[in-house]
This record gives sequence, structure tokens and C-alpha cells, in this order.
Amino acid sequence: MRIIFATHNKNKIREVRQILGDVASDIVAKSELGIDFEPVETGKTFAENAELKASGIRSYMLAHDMLQDDDIIMSDDSGLCVNYMLGMPGVYSARYLGEDTSYDVKNARIIQELRFAEGDERAAHFACSICAVFADGRVFHSEGKFEGLIAKEPKGTNGFGYDPILYLPEYGRTSAELTPEEKNSISHRGKALRAMRDQLMKVLEDDRKKGINQGAFPEKKEDSGLVRPFQTILVVSDSHHKDDNLKDVLSRLGMIDFFVHLGDAEGTEGLIQQYAGDGVKCFFVQGNNDFFTNLPRDIVATFGKHKCFLTHGHYYGVNMDLSILAEEAKIRGCDVAMFGHTHRPCLKMVNGVMCINPGSISFPRQMDRKPSYMVIDISEDGEFTYHQVLLDKWT
Ligand code: IMP
Repeated sequence: MRIIFATHNKNKIREVRQILGDVASDIVAKSELGIDFEPVETGKTFAENAELKASGIRSYMLAHDMLQDDDIIMSDDSGLCVNYMLGMPGVYSARYLGEDTSYDVKNARIIQELRFAEGDERAAHFACSICAVFADGRVFHSEGKFEGLIAKEPKGTNGFGYDPILYLPEYGRTSAELTPEEKNSISHRGKALRAMRDQLMKVLEDDRKKGINQGAFPEKKEDSGLVRPFQTILVVSDSHHKDDNLKDVLSRLGMIDFFVHLGDAEGTEGLIQQYAGDGVKCFFVQGNNDFFTNLPRDIVATFGKHKCFLTHGHYYGVNMDLSILAEEAKIRGCDVAMFGHTHRPCLKMVNGVMCINPGSISFPRQMDRKPSYMVIDISEDGEFTYHQVLLDKWT
């Protein structure tokens, strides 16, 4: 088993090897595998950023045929949260006052911000979130905190970043005055790593009992004896900022070639694009709830033999009937119209145009209320085969 840790930092790798050495014999930094892909950290929480990094690297490895069945991709995200500053700098810790600003300046500014704060009002902590993504797509999280008070002046030269201003009352020293061994034994990252080790030991033991070969791509099409289609499109709609089902579907489907989102992602397009992975061409259109985006209202795209009209549908009255949509598709020379908005799956020929709606992946409204999506297999000669998929579970 291999753990690939998404960092360039040698000290982190050393710490990870010390703590997770009994989970995996082989622990490597992504750079040691020649991976220079840097997922963008657009998350609003440490956990979101950690998952973005780990799942981004997994997608990259999958797309570049580098992923082994029992690989675990792991990453961390951490920062300083100051109560008096409502949790800031938090996920922006590295970028606070600008990425290139020195920590002398950042630390002085935080002390200045807290000039009227006394006692417990100066409470702060380092937080660390770790995410592990298995080759088969399962995702695990752990957290750790390292609590103290913001010092009235910076002290100490060990450590890095904000260490000189986190004062630890029980030690009578700042974090930068601890030896590296002392800090590792109580730090946020150490705690999160140990919590991850305990969780992984349990999961892997359960897998062994169930006879699961960890990461054996249970739904990979090649393994099930099916011939992989020439190309595959995953079509979803109306995720409305709730992406758990979508993430799950993306990681379980394995390779897709195109990803189509028919509107109302509500701001998570960047994240979704990363979940989909590097080699996947993604199309997003604007829904009636996508207020602050520059997404196109409609797209015309050719897949295989078919010219497809992609739209959310609210401009074409799709809640009433599909004739205006079909007409618009025809005007644009399309024989397929993909739309969303109704949150109800549909696959229907209307006036010579195949109108398809994948339903909502997060908020279904049809009778059985099952979240749904559509997979379109494109054969070598460009023909479409449609698979409407309903999920049995809610997340
Ligand atoms: P990263 O998660 O390693 O990228 O860390 C993000 C930022 O959080 C760092 O650049 C530091 O500013 C801050 N940070 C995280 N952990 C520590 C720590 O243990 N000491 C001091 N600063 C930290």
C-alpha cells in the first residue's frame, strides 16, 4: 500500500512517515512521483481544501494512468484561527496580507488587531484538517486543534509562520519556543494525523474482514467485463451548492471524457471541475439561481454524431412543455437538447429533437424523489446510448 501525500514540504513528509508508518510501508510526496499538478484551494473550510487537493491529485493520477489499486492520496490544510478576529486568518493564513508578506508583518498586525483584547478574548488555535481519498473513491477526514492565546509580543525562533505569537499558558512559552519534538507531540497536525491513522487502521481492518481488496475499483467498467464505450458524457443538473452525490458519482464512474452541468451549480463550478479531473472537458451553463457568474446562457456542442443544445431551460418554458426548447434547438441545428430546471428526469423525442433532462443530482422532485444523473455512451461511430441513473440513497 502507498500513501501519496500532497505536499512539497520535507518536514511534513517526515512527520507523516513517523505517524503513519504502520498503515503503509511506502509514503511518498507527490513530487517524488513527478506530479506537479497544484489543485487550486478555493474551499471555505480547511476540510474542503484538504479534500480538493487529495481528490484533485487522485483524478490527475487516474487520468495519467498512475493510480494503483491500493493507493491512498492524502493531503492537509491548516491555519491560525483567532477568535477575536472571527476565525481569521483561517483558511487564508498563508495568503493573509498577501502571500509574499513576511510573517513578522503578519504577526505584528494580528497583535495590533488584538490591542484591546484581554485574557480569554485572546484565544486562538491552529487547526489542521487531513483528507484521505482511496483509489476506489472513498473519502475520509480527520481534524486536530492546537489551542493557545495570542501573545502580546512575538517570541521564539523555532517553527515557522504564526508560531511566535501562539502562547501556550500550560507551557509558559509560545509555540516557537517549543522544541520540534515538543511541538509535534501536541500540534494540530500531529493530532489530525494520529486521528487519521486510527481511522484508517479500522477501515482497512474492516475491509480485510469483508474480503475487500482495498481500492479495487469495484465499478470500473473493464473489471466488469463490459467494453468501455469510445467516449462517455456525464450529464447532471441542479446541484444547488450541494455536491456530495455528484462527488460520489464522479469518483465511482472512473474515466469520463465530457462533463455537462445544465445549470444551478450555484458557485461550485470551480470545485466540480476539479472533482471531474484534469483531462475531462467540462461544460457549464447558467441557471436561474446562478446570479453572479459569467457562465453562458446556452452552449451548442458536438459530441460524436450529434449536435447538442445545452441550456438550463427556464428561458424556454420547460416547466410547461418542451416544444419551445425543441424549436430553439432546431433553429441552432441541433438534434439533441439537454436541459435542467425541472428537477425531473426526462428522455423524450419532441418534434425530431431528443430532449433529455438528467433530473437533479441533489434535490429531486419526481415521484420517487431519487437524485439522478445521466450517462451518455458514445460509440465509435458517434451514436448515443442514454443511461438514466437514479441514486437510491440521499447524502
Ligand atoms: P499549510 O496548510 O501547511 O499550507 O499552512 C497554511 C498556513 O497556516 C501556513 O502558511 C502558516 O501561515 C499557517 N500555519 C499552519 N500550521 C502552522 C504551524 O504549525 N505554525 C505556524 N503557522 C502555521
